[in-house]
Amino acid sequence: MKGFILGVFVTLIALAACGWFVLKQNYIDFSADQRPSSLERRLAMGAMDSWAEHRAPDAKNPVPATEENLVTGAKLYLEHCAGCHGLPSNPSGQFAKSFNPPVPNFFRKAPDMPENQNFFITRQGIRWTGMPAWSHILSDTQIWQVVAFMTNIEKLPPAAQKVLEPQEAAAPPPPPAPMPKGMKMDH
Ligand code: HEC
Repeated sequence: MKGFILGVFVTLIALAACGWFVLKQNYIDFSADQRPSSLERRLAMGAMDSWAEHRAPDAKNPVPATEENLVTGAKLYLEHCAGCHGLPSNPSGQFAKSFNPPVPNFFRKAPDMPENQNFFITRQGIRWTGMPAWSHILSDTQIWQVVAFMTNIEKLPPAAQKVLEPQEAAAPPPPPAPMPKGMKMDH
């Protein structure tokens, strides 16, 4: 029995030493422009899915998918999410290649998780990724509005689609009025 306990103890120390070695010897690449390995993807995504599935509140979206709410959701999405998750005119988003793990492009593949999980993830964010926690920036009602928007992303009413269209560049300011004759500039 004594030998067995000693064996377990030595194994644990050896594992801890290996872990320390891997961390200290530069074996882990922390750069954000790498693609995650398939092992990392499978383990981390599985853990993330299970976290969202078990921790998301068992709630229905209190915000009905009316045109008004979808337009508000589209505006919130445009302002806060589109740079990363993309737009119809630019599905990759500005930061498509800038994250590890990569950013899901919602206009290539609509978010398919239940609404309570999309609410939970948007509210809490996902640590070790680029996904921020929006609980300090948006109210719960605003988060539900973005969630309603995401659920309906493939069937948005024209008014909400219009919010996401590229806007015309603002007209240049009018040229300054000519200075009246005889007027001097103050220096
Ligand atoms: C700075 C970049 C960035 C911004 C801004 C951002 N996200 Fe994300 N988001 C990410 C990344 C990266 C992931 C992927 C995380 C992962 O793979 O675990 C993600 C994942 C998600 C997911 C999970 C999708 C899935 O299918 O796994 C949801 C839902 C989401 N974001 C919603 C939003 C909403 C809503 C907003 C705006 C309020 C937003 N995000 C803003 C980077 C961003």
